[in-house]
Amino acid sequence: MPSQTWRERYPEITRVPYHVGIIMDGNGRWAQARGLPRLAGHKAGTENIRRVLRAATEYGIKALTIYAFSTENWGRPADEVAGLMNLLGQVIRRETRDLHANGVRILHSGRLEGIAPNLVREIQAAIALTRENDRITLNVAFNYGGRAEIVDAVRHIMRDGHTPEEVTEELISHYLYTGGLPDADLIVRTGGEYRLSNFLLWQSAYAEYYATPTFWPDFDEDELAAALIEYSQRERRFGKVPSADGTQ
Ligand code: IPE
Ligand code: IPE
Ligand code: MG
Repeated sequence: MPSQTWRERYPEITRVPYHVGIIMDGNGRWAQARGLPRLAGHKAGTENIRRVLRAATEYGIKALTIYAFSTENWGRPADEVAGLMNLLGQVIRRETRDLHANGVRILHSGRLEGIAPNLVREIQAAIALTRENDRITLNVAFNYGGRAEIVDAVRHIMRDGHTPEEVTEELISHYLYTGGLPDADLIVRTGGEYRLSNFLLWQSAYAEYYATPTFWPDFDEDELAAALIEYSQRERRFGKVPSADGTQ
C-alpha cells in the first residue's frame, strides 16, 4: 500500500501530540526470549530508534524524547553499562549524517559528568551540527534522571543569582535540560511496566500516559500509531471541567 498516506491508513489519529517521550524498555527481555545476551537486545533496540523516529516525523510529531540511559542504570553490571556507552558512540558516528540530512535536530538531556570525554565530544558535535534543523527534535535522555535534572536546574538558578521571587514555574522549566522544549504531551512506555522510572518528572505533569507490553525492539510504526489513536481519544482537561460542546 505504498500510495496510502498515514492519514488514510490511520483515520482514527485526529490529534498529533507535539512532544512525545518514550521509555524504551524491554530490550533485555526481548533478547532473553530469543536466547540472546542482553546486549543483543540493546543493539536491536538502538536500531529500532531509526524506524520510530521516521514514523514520528511522518505523523507530524515535532519533538521526541527517548529514554536511553537513566542515572539508575549505572547500577547494572559493568559490562552492560560499557556496552550501552559503546552503543551510543556507534549510533552517533553512524547516524548523525543521515539525521542531519533529514532535518533532525539532536538534543541531549542528562548529565555529562560520568560520560567518557570522547563520547561527550561526539554528543556535542552532533548537537552543534544539527542545531538549525527544525523538522523534528530528537532529544536523547542519556545519563538522565528527572530528579537530577531538577537539582541541576536549582543549582544553576542559584548560581545565576536569581532571587526567590524570580523563581517561577516558567523559570524552572527554562533551566531544565529541556529548556525551550514544550512539556511532554504523551509518554509511551514499552515493555509492560507501569511506572515513570524517573523520566521527565517535571515535563510530564500533564502528559497523557500510554503503556504497551510490546518490547522496545518490536515497537514499530503501527504500535506508535496505536499510541496516537489512544491519545486522540483522550480528553485532556488540565484540571478544568469539560466544555459543553466537547472542544478542548
Ligand atoms: C531498556 O531495556 C533499555 C535500558 C534501560 C538501557 P532494559 O535493559 O531495561 O530491558 P528489560 O526491562 O530488562 O527487559
Ligand atoms: C527505564 O527502564 C530506563 C530506560 C528505559 C533507559 P529501566 O528498565 O531502567 O526501569 P526500571 O528498572 O524497570 O524502573
Ligand atoms: Mg527495563
